[in-house]
This record gives sequence, C-alpha cells and structure tokens, in this order.
Amino acid sequence: MTQHAAAAIYPGSFDPFHNGHLDVVEQAVELFGSVVVATMHNPTKPSGMFDLERRLAMIAESVAHLPTVTVRAFPGLAVHAARDANVRFIVKGLRTSGDFEVEQQMAQTNHDVSGFRTVFMPCSPALSFISSRFIREIAKYGGDVTALVPTPVAAQLARLFPPAGNTDPSREP
Ligand code: PNS
Repeated sequence: MTQHAAAAIYPGSFDPFHNGHLDVVEQAVELFGSVVVATMHNPTKPSGMFDLERRLAMIAESVAHLPTVTVRAFPGLAVHAARDANVRFIVKGLRTSGDFEVEQQMAQTNHDVSGFRTVFMPCSPALSFISSRFIREIAKYGGDVTALVPTPVAAQLARLFPPAGNTDPSREP
C-alpha cells in the first residue's frame, strides 16, 4: 500500500455511525494512511439521538481495529476542525447522486472560505442504501438493525430501544 504524507479528516454527524461510514473510513485509511473521524453537529439536523460524546465512544469502539484512525468531537465548522486537526484534506462519502448534489456545494463552499479540498469516496454498492435516519427510525420501534451497524452501535441501540415486543418509542437516550 502506498503511504501518503497527508492525513485527512472525515466529518459527519454519525447519529449513529453505520457500516457505510465504516467503509468510507477504511477506504480513507487505504488512501491517506491516517484519518481523523470528526463527530460534528449538522445544523440541518437539530435534534440528535445520541450526544456527540456518545457518538464518539461508539465510533472509537467500531474503528478499534484501525490503529491509524483517531476519533474526535468538534463543535462549529468542518474547516475549523480540519485546521485544528492539522490535516490537508476533508473526506466525504457518497452514496447517490443526491448526496453528490449536497456534498459538491459544501465542498466548493468549504474550499472557497478556507482552501481545504474535499475528496469524495463512493461507498461500496452493497452498502449504499444504508442511512442513519432509517436506522434511527427502525431502532426506535424495536426493529433489527444489526446488519447495518457495527457491533458496538447495535449494542447501544439495543440498550436504548429493546427489541420489538418490549418497546416504548417515546423513550429518549
Ligand atoms: O453526516 P452528515 O449529517 O451528512 O454530516 C454533515 C456535516 C456534519 C459534515 C456538516 O453538516 C458540517 O460540515 N457541519 C459543520 C458546520 C459547517 O462546517 N457548515 C458549513 C458547510 S459549507
């Protein structure tokens, strides 16, 4: 594997982190060698299921097999997180053309205001349907999401939202 000098930051809301995200982290490690996964607030998603610290803990467990990955929580802007983490590139995962529309505009804006370039990683086709939104929805009503998320995330979700038959959808984390 070719080692690149630059490390990258992979920002996202990761609420919760799922197998598609893990795939992007693994691809980014292959390309950049070392990666900072940054749990961040998405202003278009005001209320989260897990707070940033809990997301961070679940991601850290999920990437424990990748020694060059660090996980940090950042408030504010992705470009400030990139500066603070001392990386050269921002990494984003793409599932669909819908993702591209949003991400291209964000990448161009981030470059314009900071100079940081964004590198897009297409996620594996077998994982491209996975979304945190649907995971939250299914888990909240006691559905089975174990095939969609890393084991530490599945364990946290099962703790919060017991399997169907013993479900209280109004329960908050
Ligand atoms: O996983 P998501 O929800 O698609 O991640 C989006 C995220 C958190 C990366 C994006 O909302 C973000 O960059 N938030 C930080 C605020 C910011 O930098 N806004 C300017 C965007 S041009």
